[in-house]
Amino acid sequence: MAGNGNLNVANKAKKDEFYTQLPDIENELRHYKKHFKDKTVFCNCDDPYESNFFKYFAMNFNQLGLKKLIATCYSESFVAGKQLALFDDSPQEKSKTSVPHKIIITEVTDLNGDGATNLADVEWLIKNDKNVLTRLNGDGDFRSDECVELLKEADIVVTNPPFSLFREYVAQLMKYEKKFLIIGNENNVTYKEIFPLLMNNTIWLGCKSGSQQFEVPMSFEKNNTYIKEGRKYAKFGNICWFTNLDHNKRHDKLDLYKHYTPEDYPTYDNYAAIEVGRVSDIPCDYDDIMGVPITFMQIYNPDQFEILGITDRGDEYGLKTKEYTKYDTPKYGDLNRRATYWVNGELKPTFAKLLIRKKH
Ligand SMILES: C[S@@+](CC[C@H](N)C(=O)[O-])C[C@H]1O[C@@H](n2cnc3c(N)ncnc32)[C@H](O)[C@@H]1O
Repeated sequence: MAGNGNLNVANKAKKDEFYTQLPDIENELRHYKKHFKDKTVFCNCDDPYESNFFKYFAMNFNQLGLKKLIATCYSESFVAGKQLALFDDSPQEKSKTSVPHKIIITEVTDLNGDGATNLADVEWLIKNDKNVLTRLNGDGDFRSDECVELLKEADIVVTNPPFSLFREYVAQLMKYEKKFLIIGNENNVTYKEIFPLLMNNTIWLGCKSGSQQFEVPMSFEKNNTYIKEGRKYAKFGNICWFTNLDHNKRHDKLDLYKHYTPEDYPTYDNYAAIEVGRVSDIPCDYDDIMGVPITFMQIYNPDQFEILGITDRGDEYGLKTKEYTKYDTPKYGDLNRRATYWVNGELKPTFAKLLIRKKH
């Protein structure tokens, strides 16, 4: 048992160790610049020695008009202190990164006198001002008291949090009513703690979704990895951003051009809704409830559609019309978890479907 326990901890840790690349951060963050003026940004899963989130905000500190940048680092980070792209790799600096620490920056000026205010000045600041980089008392867990104190001080949290703690991570942001922009997986949409927040327009998806490449530890074993210039990268599918910062894309209207026919859009056997196989197939002339794939969240405009529920979770949203029993079919357990419709005399279950309706 103990062995298994350790294995689980190790697996969980491995799952959490992938590092966001700077171009992906720049690509998303460019949609939110107006939100950052005079704000305190907190990157709370980010060793500044390896995090491109820290690097992005340090580099753009003046351009965004930030008030303060805080980054904290977790003791278990696989690569902490190993990838000193940003700073000097001296033994003294390395020892600093072997313990959880925090960095707080309130100003980036031309400290090194090279005529520009940029990353080199942040580097200078960290090396020369002992108040900027300090040790944390605990392990840097985002739930620890000292990290929560920093969270309270922050206006906006931006990071790629540990995958295995996504629910808890979002719950904490909600508890402290923080603005945020974080990376997650599209399947997080279906989590029972996350879906209601999306349905109620408390949070939404960011601009970019799809597959994304992350840097991973050399020990990371999985398909879709490759090594470039001594670093290992892996491709992850279904990556998306979750946020409560407004952006233009969520106000874009989806053009609808398909027409409803009962043949193309079968009515579910167990929900009061029709099956829509692809988001681009949402019919322009159907005004009742439709079951759409979770990728719908990528184009969801709350002025155009409302979300009424999700199929994959009992009858939480009161839209189920039928529960199967063992007398109906031996597959009743599976079928009750999904929306179903008849194909060639057989009940076909769908993947998790969002139940939506057009707004008038
Ligand atoms: C998916 S990685 C992303 C790292 C970095 N934010 C980035 O985007 O490059 C998640 C990070 O969270 C750290 N982590 C894991 N559990 C944590 C916890 N309880 N509190 C804070 N950080 C944690 C991991 O060590 C890892 O560095």
